Amino acid sequence: MVAAVRTGSDESRAADLLATLSHSARGSSDAYLATARATLQALMTRPDLLDGVALKRRPGGYARNLLFGRGGISVWAMVWSPGASTSVHDHHCSCCFGVWKGAIREVWFRPIGPAEAVATADATRMQGYVACMMPTGPNLHQIVNPGTEEAISIHVYGFDHEVHASSVRTEYRVLAA
Ligand SMILES: [Fe+2]
Repeated sequence: MVAAVRTGSDESRAADLLATLSHSARGSSDAYLATARATLQALMTRPDLLDGVALKRRPGGYARNLLFGRGGISVWAMVWSPGASTSVHDHHCSCCFGVWKGAIREVWFRPIGPAEAVATADATRMQGYVACMMPTGPNLHQIVNPGTEEAISIHVYGFDHEVHASSVRTEYRVLAA
């Protein structure tokens, strides 16, 4: 279940946190988001979270590492090499993430067509930052690592990794505002 999550003597606590998350996903969306946020906030304070995990990396890009998947929830460690960038995309499921190491830049967009968008906001997310979004709310963004250091974020998605390839619903073309 959480075999990929190495947390030393606290491994059972991490397993409990993630099991709670999976259970809570079957309840209301508000309860789930509160649990997901609290879980991520706890994980962000654990420097040993990824000890022993053989993380994949992609020079110039980002690599997804599945840590846990059960009950329609999947938890991933995203490793962002310097210069890495996602497409501009939205999500078909809930998406919660926390910055575990380093800093990333998040750019938000507004859709102006079925697959066209304009940028609306831009922020740097530092280590410890946690955010949640639902598919019913604003969730159109892009993540970039513009720095010279690697960054790692932990993502909790409301999708079954054995059913969906990713959380992305639509990728957008960016038009000038
Ligand atoms: Fe995303």
